[in-house]
Amino acid sequence: MAGLPANFWGAMDREIVRLAAEPGPAMIDVSKGNPDLPTPEHIVAAMQAAVADPRNHGYPSYAPRPALRRAVALRYREDHGVDLDPDTEVAVAHGSHEAILGAVMAFADPGTAVVAPDPGYPLYTSAAHLAGAHVVPLPLAPPAYQPDLTATLPAAASVVLLNYPHNPTGALATAQTFADAADYATRAGAVIVHDFAYASLGFDGRRPLSALAVPAARECTIEAQTLSKTYSMAGWRIGFAAGRAELVSAVSRYQAHAFSTVAGATQDAAAAALSGDQTAARDLVALYQRRRDVVVAGLRRAGWDVTVPEGSFFVWARVPGDVDASETARRLREEARVAVAPGDGFGPGGRGHIRIGLVRDERVLAELVERLVAFTRH
Ligand SMILES: Cc1ncc(COP(=O)(O)O)c(C=O)c1O
Repeated sequence: MAGLPANFWGAMDREIVRLAAEPGPAMIDVSKGNPDLPTPEHIVAAMQAAVADPRNHGYPSYAPRPALRRAVALRYREDHGVDLDPDTEVAVAHGSHEAILGAVMAFADPGTAVVAPDPGYPLYTSAAHLAGAHVVPLPLAPPAYQPDLTATLPAAASVVLLNYPHNPTGALATAQTFADAADYATRAGAVIVHDFAYASLGFDGRRPLSALAVPAARECTIEAQTLSKTYSMAGWRIGFAAGRAELVSAVSRYQAHAFSTVAGATQDAAAAALSGDQTAARDLVALYQRRRDVVVAGLRRAGWDVTVPEGSFFVWARVPGDVDASETARRLREEARVAVAPGDGFGPGGRGHIRIGLVRDERVLAELVERLVAFTRH
């Protein structure tokens, strides 16, 4: 435990709670990727029925429910053009966090190198530490934030982590990105763990690309997805992993030993979400896109350097002036009552940036932009 990095969000969260209780304008907290909308009603209804079903009151089987595995395969076929064998190529976990951790634990032996994007989601460093492996940063070059595979990377590695749509920058991957990463991973003897948490969230008509749709990557990649973002089900804790049977079976085995089984009712509700009407999921993309436009246009009007995110639900902005992002985030919390994520929490590649989560409505986000602009003027 002593070797584990401090939880990036823990101390900041306590600070936000403390400041929010103080008198003043309402705190606008967009520091995390916690969806603000309720889960669509038909999914809630499916969960209510599943909870009432006594079949779900006992322990579920270690094998994920067939209906859920089939629903995952259906979405992969319809949304990503990927054929999966639902019996052998799908694992289920309590969210993609657990699936990603399970994959790193399954494939990274102690002492090996885990190559992880910089900037990148802090979980990757935590997972590598828990596995006793060490992290080698994979620099992502702005403005497209694709991996720089010409950087000095280890000749041998156990895991290469990728994440597109990318948190925190909102970049999407190209097929070349996955093909090049597969080439490196194969030479290094590594498994690619692709964090596809924002699989449904591509803007301006773009559809995020599954690594499994790229033939070279299909061979060496396990891909984690979640219902947290696509269906605003973050509190329900359900996600899954897909890929070649051999890789999926290793992750499922670790999952069963470490975390046991996933609640049957949640699996039933997830199957209903994935196999049912996708209108709400599509509408959600349009809603996040409108929010993105409010924030990007507002900050650009004020002269901020903002890349228009192609996906995810974050806006990644360079703080004007050569300033420390953590210090700026602290001052923003205290002086503007706005909580954003400081870029350096995502690694050295995030220095000088802040991340704004599009998890409040357009009116609140417009107010947030006004506060940011006023803050930078004085
Ligand atoms: C990039 C990324 N990966 C994984 C997760 C974990 O999501 P969950 O465990 O809810 O599936 C998140 C959540 O914010 C995320 O942003």
